[in-house]
Amino acid sequence: MWRDLLPLGRSASSGGYFRQPWTAPEREARAWFVEQAEARGLAVERDGLGNLVAWWGTGRTDAVLTGSHLDSVLDGGAYDGPLGVVSALAAVDVLRGRGFEPRRPVAVGAFVEEEGSRFGLACLGSRLLTGATSWETARVLRDREGLALEDALADEGLDGSRGTWLDGVATFVELHVEQGRDLVDRDEAVGVASAIWPHGRYRFDFAGEANHAGTTRMEDRRDPMLSYAMTALAANKQARVSGQRATFGRVDVRPNGTNAVPSHVTAWLDARAESSTALEQLLADVERQAQERAGRDGTSLTVTAESVSPEVAFDPALAARIAEPHRWPVIPTMAGHDAGVLSAAGVPTAMLFVRNPTGVSHSPDEHAETADCLAGVTALADTLALLSGG
Ligand code: GLV
Ligand code: MN
Ligand code: MN
Ligand code: MN
Repeated sequence: MWRDLLPLGRSASSGGYFRQPWTAPEREARAWFVEQAEARGLAVERDGLGNLVAWWGTGRTDAVLTGSHLDSVLDGGAYDGPLGVVSALAAVDVLRGRGFEPRRPVAVGAFVEEEGSRFGLACLGSRLLTGATSWETARVLRDREGLALEDALADEGLDGSRGTWLDGVATFVELHVEQGRDLVDRDEAVGVASAIWPHGRYRFDFAGEANHAGTTRMEDRRDPMLSYAMTALAANKQARVSGQRATFGRVDVRPNGTNAVPSHVTAWLDARAESSTALEQLLADVERQAQERAGRDGTSLTVTAESVSPEVAFDPALAARIAEPHRWPVIPTMAGHDAGVLSAAGVPTAMLFVRNPTGVSHSPDEHAETADCLAGVTALADTLALLSGG
């Protein structure tokens, strides 16, 4: 499966992946999924967004769903998302090889725009399926080219107002490459998730005054780049002292010329914290310092929350049921997942993590050893067998 999937959207220069939703490489990845599922005799359904599900068995109720996503961040790794989809299909093969007949239907899914890397809203596909976000809110979201989601989908022959297949799903299990070093430190190939930290994405719009870089005296400037730079430092410090996470990973500068003081800087803060209260406090602290700085620089600042995902506590009984027989460690994660959205929607949900020796993710350096991936497939097959009953 990897042989056909790995070239899709891979950059020859960085080795990273550019699989933005509803673009050619991501469309090809979805076509790959359909081909793999149909080759296994699974019945494929797609909704109006491009979310995919492939059913093993004829029933459509009380199903055990497994899978993940095929899109990537900009210049992402090979495993974040696809490992969960490939492992789900491989786990079906393993179970069939064991002669296992599920009593409850088993379904393999691939959600679209999990990363929110095109339209800014993380887990867009699963949010629309669960109703966590309404189509009315989503349809007007715009990508970097200004194209509305509704129009991007229409160009693909899709209609995002349609999405229903989650109805028969009673349990969800997502396998994912670990995005940190917890399993490396514990010397374990596989782990089970306990919780996801709450996560917010906030847009900081700083406005100043464009002017000549040579003739404008330093004291006469209203430079939004300075306000932004001090904000990035303040966010980093605030997160360090409070034990939380704060990242400015995306910045737009206007007019973006070497010899001009900029007029506008828009920067996106990705903030994560151990609780919703801690997240609100982190944002409030960063925003207060940013406003103070903007005041001193003669710039203005508006802050807009683009997406906020609450804390997720996965079903502890389910996690224990999966982890205990194998003594897999149960660990929290700071990364967002469709599993979090389904869990928040009331679907009993679990996650399996596969060790990542680099500990790096959202980067081409993300990695998983083949032996650990195979351990993950076996773990997922055992979990599906447990949940779908033999
Ligand atoms: C998604 O992968 C996220 O946690 O940003
Ligand atoms: Mn990711
Ligand atoms: Mn992912
Ligand atoms: Mn994710």
